[in-house]
Amino acid sequence: MENRLRAPAAVRVARSPYFCLFLVLAAFAFICPSPVVFAAGRDSAAPALLLGSAWYPEQWPESRWDADLQLMEDAHLHVVRVGEFAWSTLEPSQGRYNLDWLERAVRLAEKHHIQVVIGTPADAPPAWLTSAHPETLRVDATGRRAEHGGRRQFNYANPEYRVFCAAVAEQLAHRFGHDPNVIGWQIGNEYTEESFDPGTRSQFDNWLQRKYRSLDALNHDWSTAYWSQTYDRWDEIPLPTQGGNPGLLLDHRRFVSDTWRDFQQVQIDAIRKFADSRQFITTNIGGLGWSDNWDHYEITRPLDLAAWDDYVGEGHLNVARNGAMHDFVRGWKRQNFWVMETQPGSVNWAPINNTLDPGETRAMAWQAVGHGADAVLYWQWRDALNGQEQYHGALVGPDGTPLPIYNEIRGIGSEFERATTALAGTKPVAQVAIVVSYDSRWAIDFQAHNKNYDQLEVLLSYYRPLRDLGLTVDIVSADAPLDSYKVVFAPSLNVISKDRSAHLLAYVQQGGHLVLGPRSGMKDEHNSLNVERQPGPLVAPLGGRVDQYYALDSEVPVSGTAGTGTASLWAEQLSTRAPDTEVLLRYGKSNGWLDDEPAMISRRVGNGRITYLGAVLDPDLMRKVVASATSDARVSPEFGDVPQNVEVCRRLDANHKVFVLINHGPVEVHLALSSAMRDVLDDGRIISNCDLSPQGIAVLTTDVH
Ligand code: GAL
Repeated sequence: MENRLRAPAAVRVARSPYFCLFLVLAAFAFICPSPVVFAAGRDSAAPALLLGSAWYPEQWPESRWDADLQLMEDAHLHVVRVGEFAWSTLEPSQGRYNLDWLERAVRLAEKHHIQVVIGTPADAPPAWLTSAHPETLRVDATGRRAEHGGRRQFNYANPEYRVFCAAVAEQLAHRFGHDPNVIGWQIGNEYTEESFDPGTRSQFDNWLQRKYRSLDALNHDWSTAYWSQTYDRWDEIPLPTQGGNPGLLLDHRRFVSDTWRDFQQVQIDAIRKFADSRQFITTNIGGLGWSDNWDHYEITRPLDLAAWDDYVGEGHLNVARNGAMHDFVRGWKRQNFWVMETQPGSVNWAPINNTLDPGETRAMAWQAVGHGADAVLYWQWRDALNGQEQYHGALVGPDGTPLPIYNEIRGIGSEFERATTALAGTKPVAQVAIVVSYDSRWAIDFQAHNKNYDQLEVLLSYYRPLRDLGLTVDIVSADAPLDSYKVVFAPSLNVISKDRSAHLLAYVQQGGHLVLGPRSGMKDEHNSLNVERQPGPLVAPLGGRVDQYYALDSEVPVSGTAGTGTASLWAEQLSTRAPDTEVLLRYGKSNGWLDDEPAMISRRVGNGRITYLGAVLDPDLMRKVVASATSDARVSPEFGDVPQNVEVCRRLDANHKVFVLINHGPVEVHLALSSAMRDVLDDGRIISNCDLSPQGIAVLTTDVH
């Protein structure tokens, strides 16, 4: 990349034959100006940076499309997502497909150098379908069947519905699977609502039968002698609508995950029959990233790319939460991802739909990129004149001219174009990880024990100090490969089965430091209590265990070599059971039971270490605990000190580092860089310090040494 060459190297390159070739190509590019070339397929080089929007051409007269696309091009948008709610236009009656309009939209987008992602329309079935086939409509937990007029009214488990979904997906893939301007596919839209109809219930019974093979096994693993829950026939097992046996509830969540995965797979298969392998297949995951109605690892496994919908809703950007969600999404497939939807200023579904401040939309876009997004798309281009979302933020108004936010987004588009070369092929690389699992999340939420125990907040109590140390953090499945991390934090890892325990122990044995947080290892994979007590099979290697847990209604003092502070919400009374297990924190005087008992213990195991922290600590003490874990593990600094409120994100490839710096604070700050870097947004100018205004951004590169 020419803007990264130092003078002597540049002289050497200028003499090389490659440089002559470069000059010829550059001259050619100058004579034939072409748009920035973006590649985003499965087999293509790493995707470059794209800005885009959801666009619904079917809602507008065709005569208007060119003007819209011209405005998009002017804003440097290079991708649109289309089609995901257009079923009644794509297939106006059963088997009568009308895809010509979409083809014309794709061609017109191409003329404006805008690539296309096509959504399969499975989220909004047409009225002809659901009225002729009412069993394709979902039934809610109260037994009420959904009606036409909204969306998400379909029954995800209904085999007939899947046939209709596959048919329309296949038609689309047949038509657009080789289209050079179509770069990818989105299956449906934000899988959300499950169904409680009799058909789904019998699928659940079959699913259980396949899993357990015998009712004896199921009765044993769920401890059904309790409350006479013993089952003698598979069809006696309920589809839980609210509460129930913890084993049943956990398996139901797994069934829901598998059912969505199968719903999705039918459409993936239909598309892959025809689609070029360069076209990726994804889905846009909603629920503000953290939703747990199904297992996101399971759903993204068969996809080429993870994508999520990043909305603030009411209020303003919560930097840590949103950054953590990006890192969590990146962890689903352990690769870069897309933000398939984000708000252009405001939404329409929050209690108060305030607008982001000027510059905040830009800060959000760059935060996404810093955390590993390769594309950011706004929802939506223009509000339909009617329909349920008339009040939602958009880029252009009902008159078709830009809204005030358009200019800010145009600025982001121009910056993305300038940064695309520097960022292509780079990704965040972390030395530390936080691990999570859906079974743990479900198990805790079924029986919170303290209504204020919020697993995301507990996770953020670990995440924030790590980010404040300037570290990249991976948030990955507890079952993912861990060997590349120097420290792994496992807050709230409630389910530790024998397999998971072996996996974690192997990580520790080879030299890792595993820090288990409160509520870890209480349950096995059936949501049964581990008989070793907490942390289950890891009690022996830890040389210690949880003797009792307490939901707290007031703060408890803690102190020890790890520091001094308070615990709240949850406190576990620990004990050591091996002579070399150290006590790092003890509770002070509190509920009597906890007084002077261990709150945090640690032991060397193999080449590594296991630490158990049994309480939710205050931010200052947490900062000390995290800092000592990372410094003991020799986690190296990634950037250098920055003023408060400046977020630093780092992306790497083999040859260079890219830093995205964002000032989320209200005042301008000055940064002295530890070494000279190129300022990507300022023509690669070499700088050794920079000023960041509120919401200010800098994108800096330097070679890897
Ligand atoms: C998303 C959804 C979009 C749109 C948006 C509004 O959850 O996928 O279709 O409704 O919310 O914020």
